[in-house]
Amino acid sequence: MSRQEGRHFLQIPGPTNVPDRVLRAIAAPTIDHRGPEFARLSKEVLEGLKVIFKTEGRVIVFPGSGTGAWEAALVNTLSPGDKLLMFETGHFATLWCSMAQRLGLDVDFVPGDWRSGVDPATVEAKLAGDRGHKIKAVAVVHNETSTGVASRVGEIRAAMNRAGHPALLLVDTISSLASIDFRMDEWQVDVTVGCSQKGLMLPPGLGFNGVSDKALAASRSAGCKRSYWDWQEMLANNKSGFYPYTPATNLLYGLHEAINMLLEEGLDRVFARHDRHGEATRRAVRAWGLELLCKNPAEYSSSLTAVLMPAGQDGDALRNVILKSFNMSLGTGLGKVKGKVFRIGHLGDFNDLSLAGTLAGVEMGLTLADVPHKAAGVAAALDYLTRAARAAAGKKSAA
Ligand SMILES: Cc1ncc(COP(=O)(O)O)c(C=O)c1O
Repeated sequence: MSRQEGRHFLQIPGPTNVPDRVLRAIAAPTIDHRGPEFARLSKEVLEGLKVIFKTEGRVIVFPGSGTGAWEAALVNTLSPGDKLLMFETGHFATLWCSMAQRLGLDVDFVPGDWRSGVDPATVEAKLAGDRGHKIKAVAVVHNETSTGVASRVGEIRAAMNRAGHPALLLVDTISSLASIDFRMDEWQVDVTVGCSQKGLMLPPGLGFNGVSDKALAASRSAGCKRSYWDWQEMLANNKSGFYPYTPATNLLYGLHEAINMLLEEGLDRVFARHDRHGEATRRAVRAWGLELLCKNPAEYSSSLTAVLMPAGQDGDALRNVILKSFNMSLGTGLGKVKGKVFRIGHLGDFNDLSLAGTLAGVEMGLTLADVPHKAAGVAAALDYLTRAARAAAGKKSAA
């Protein structure tokens, strides 16, 4: 293969582009993971993660992927046969449900259309109807990466409180953490599942569990078998900054730097930046004359946009043309929407010009792949971004 000039545009909704500062941090010499320098690094990372998760509780870091962190959330809080309420919002919710079933949990999987998020009213009705409190946990995917639909976790929590039900709330924030506002303590989330390769701008390899006091208490009597994923041993070691096994030392250097970058920018600005790029992308999609997969504007995702292909057109054929012609990877359609959609990732280390380039690649690709559209998407997005930049500059000079 000949050299591909320029930088590859990795516009899948994770893994995301890893910034140079993080790459350089990861390139440090590996240190003794039982020595004092590691303990300092690890304690700083664990404190910093609490700010990102918005929790006073604790965050556990596993060497592993998001799937491992899903498993840790389930096996530490539940016992075989326990009832679990889950919602079919898309591919990842379906995979998490299958895992729960394989672990011997009894899942009530509420069917969905893969275009909508979790309905808080359904949560309330299901819990209100469970007078014997058989449901031990409600597990939801905050941002469904396969569909670009973000469920309203704050409203789901309010619905649980209205039902007065004691179930734990487990939330997958894998493609929302550090890109879409998430408030673990304010929304009384008991277990937050996360991983490194999306909003945290790291390579894959770390899985996270944010753990509330209530979840920790549940873990003391939870009967699911666990060993590698056991919170207790991890927390006992973490107290002095260590791990029960060899941690992913160099990824933790990268995580330390990524947390610094996010806090330098400020979380509110990080969220506003993702909101702006989500809105600009949706304007481009509408101007192309294409349809968003997400139906409800209150559930639009700020980290990715899933675009429906016109009838008879294949999303993967379009993606292949764009990869070959412009060296840009877009997200494929997963599960039930395979071939029917393509996904534009706009999360992580990303700015207005990265989005402009991304949308230009899509618009040129639509033409090359003979997908019927109007070549007006980039102009619509640039118009929105320019107006947003002007408003931001105006605000700054007025201040
Ligand atoms: C929402 C969501 N949950 C879970 C996963 C699984 O994570 P991993 O592939 O790191 O195991 C993903 C992966 O993209 C995801 O997007």
